[in-house]
Amino acid sequence: MAPLFQAADLTAERVADADVDLFQPLLERCEDFYQRCYGRPARPDEAKQMPEERPPELGPEHGHLVALRDASGALVGILEGVSDFPSPGEWYLGLMLLAPEVRGHRRGEAVIHAYEDWLRGQGARLLRLGVAEPNPAALRFWTRVGFSEEKWVGPMEQGLLNYRVLRMSKPLA
Ligand SMILES: CC(C)(COP(=O)(O)OP(=O)(O)OC[C@H]1O[C@@H](n2cnc3c(N)ncnc32)[C@H](O)[C@@H]1OP(=O)(O)O)[C@@H](O)C(=O)NCCC(=O)NCCS
Repeated sequence: MAPLFQAADLTAERVADADVDLFQPLLERCEDFYQRCYGRPARPDEAKQMPEERPPELGPEHGHLVALRDASGALVGILEGVSDFPSPGEWYLGLMLLAPEVRGHRRGEAVIHAYEDWLRGQGARLLRLGVAEPNPAALRFWTRVGFSEEKWVGPMEQGLLNYRVLRMSKPLA
């Protein structure tokens, strides 16, 4: 399949829901993230659950799984977005995760900017996401790349934890 975009040394490609299992080893390697945000490692069916956990009213065409591969073709990241949610032109980024060994070198910044360009091409005018209160490094990251606070929601149950989530957004126009 043709790449969606290139960001730093990473290549982004679309993954069909039917192939979501290919993300499972990456999710398991990111135990730090799952412990911090859910109080447990990735579940054995964590990847398979991703399409299931989308808002039930959304048809499958709204789900967009993106794999990030390094120059050797190894899977080192994931972007999981839904389109036109809750309103047309508004996208929601459910998960952006890089493998531990590729974090901290500004690749995340390059990826999100390239993703935003791609989203503009899809007609998106706003990107929204939620940041877990126990993940202050992520809050610094999203603020640095131009997202602003919409509102705190919760506290709510997230895995074995209970905390608030900061809804953030960035206009893409
Ligand atoms: C958040 C994330 C996508 C950023 O990508 P990145 O390439 O590491 O980001 P950059 O190099 O452009 O920026 C580094 C920033 O990322 C954050 N960060 C999160 N985890 C990090 C790690 N293990 N190493 C380095 N930086 C990390 C920090 O905010 C850091 O900046 P700081 O100097 O303010 O601490 C990536 O670190 C990641 O996948 N983290 C774990 C999953 C996660 O928290 N996702 C966001 C959910 S809302």
